[in-house]
Amino acid sequence: MKPSPDMKQDVAEILLTEEEIRAKVAELGARITADYTGGELTLVSVLKGSLPFMADLMRQIDVPLRIDLMEVSSYGGAATESSGLVRILKDLSAPIDGRDVLLVEDIIDTGLTLNYLLRYLRGKNPRSIKICALLNKPARRLVEIPIDYIGFEVPDRFVVGYGLDYGEVYRNLRFVGVLRPEAYEEPSQP
Ligand code: IMP
Repeated sequence: MKPSPDMKQDVAEILLTEEEIRAKVAELGARITADYTGGELTLVSVLKGSLPFMADLMRQIDVPLRIDLMEVSSYGGAATESSGLVRILKDLSAPIDGRDVLLVEDIIDTGLTLNYLLRYLRGKNPRSIKICALLNKPARRLVEIPIDYIGFEVPDRFVVGYGLDYGEVYRNLRFVGVLRPEAYEEPSQP
């Protein structure tokens, strides 16, 4: 699949505009600030999809905080499916024992990735661990995950933009949208 030079031409529908996302991130930041006032926070984000959300959210939180980044990949599975087997490509760079951790995720789909990460991080003895997800796709959930802060619920469609990719492209779109079916299809052989 080759993206159009103007990536917006590959988008069939915008689900969340830049303005809606900005307002929601500010709202989430205010709630998190209220809940953690007087304390300190460690935000742990999962590359690469959560990068824009993390960057915007951390600037809407008014308590002292540290950030750390992990990178994981799913073993196997098609480009739009999660296999549930997770490999850690980049681990935390500092210990989190005794810390209040907020795991910042772009989207929770089957929940398999987060389920694995939660168990992994709990094993490092944080004082508390909560989850903040920009998008929640409950229709496809395979494991129940307690999500403390949710930005938006999205329908059972594959979405791109604001960090989310298809084939590593479209992460820099400032909105969240759904691709045209042609963007998924392999070019037909002559
Ligand atoms: P889960 O393990 O099925 O919950 O999927 C988690 C990861 O799959 C997310 O952090 C995303 O990187 C990716 N993902 C799930 N749904 C979508 C989508 O609609 N668009 C882009 N990436 C997605």
